[in-house]
Amino acid sequence: MSLRLDEITPEEVRTLADKFETRALEDVLRWTWDRFGPRAAIGTSFQGAGLVMIHHAVKAGLPFPVFTLDTQLLFPETYELQRRLENFFEIKIESLIPELSLEEQAKDFGPELWKSRPDTCCSIRKVEPLQKKLTQLAVWITGIRRQQSDTRESTRILELYHFDILNDRYILKLNPMAPWDRDRVWAYLREHKIPYNPLQDRGYRSIGCYPCTRATSDAESERAGRWTGFDKSECGIHTFLGQSI
Ligand code: ADX
Ligand code: SF4
Repeated sequence: MSLRLDEITPEEVRTLADKFETRALEDVLRWTWDRFGPRAAIGTSFQGAGLVMIHHAVKAGLPFPVFTLDTQLLFPETYELQRRLENFFEIKIESLIPELSLEEQAKDFGPELWKSRPDTCCSIRKVEPLQKKLTQLAVWITGIRRQQSDTRESTRILELYHFDILNDRYILKLNPMAPWDRDRVWAYLREHKIPYNPLQDRGYRSIGCYPCTRATSDAESERAGRWTGFDKSECGIHTFLGQSI
């Protein structure tokens, strides 16, 4: 069920966000489970930060639902990783599929939409399925980190959005990985022998759909390999909510 504004005030959200800065990841996740239970869900693309969160949640016995936006354009290595993670963590990861199949999208918008209008493609294949999912949730738990890009630098650990003005729906976005840097994430994954995407070892430091992802050099920013050739650095899932309140 979505969030109502009489459940939490913007002031409380700001106070909690400040408090969470000095709390361990496990404590932040536990607070979220205690308050919202399965109305809070982890969204993951199986990259480092998401895996650290899932590991903490499973270890602490916090059975958050876990979902992924399956654009049907992910790398074979990513689909294989999803299966490996389900076995490793002994969880089910829900795949959210776009309403339009790739064939229907090609028929309606032309072939390889990602080459002509990537914003429209991301909107159909990622943003719309996520919007639909958020109508069923109170808290969306993400793995975004401040270090990832300039646009994510000011991410707060807890944020409140008025995401569906028409139906007066709110959503809390929990970003408990915001303070973590890349080295800390990867040290954790190695220490706990958590399965990860083998593309990481081939220079892919940020992994999305195969037509829009390339390997990067260490001199480039982490997300430079996404949507090369387009003036685009976000798929829209972290921007469509607008400003937090
Ligand atoms: S993206 O916006 O460019 O795709 P990025 O790959 O940096 O995002 O991941 C940041 C966070 O966005 C992830 O930790 C996850 O919470 C969310 N996210 C990104 N892609 C997906 C996806 N395919 N399914 C679910 N969540 C996702
Ligand atoms: Fe389409 Fe590329 Fe966006 Fe994937 S990342 S949904 S292929 S435009």
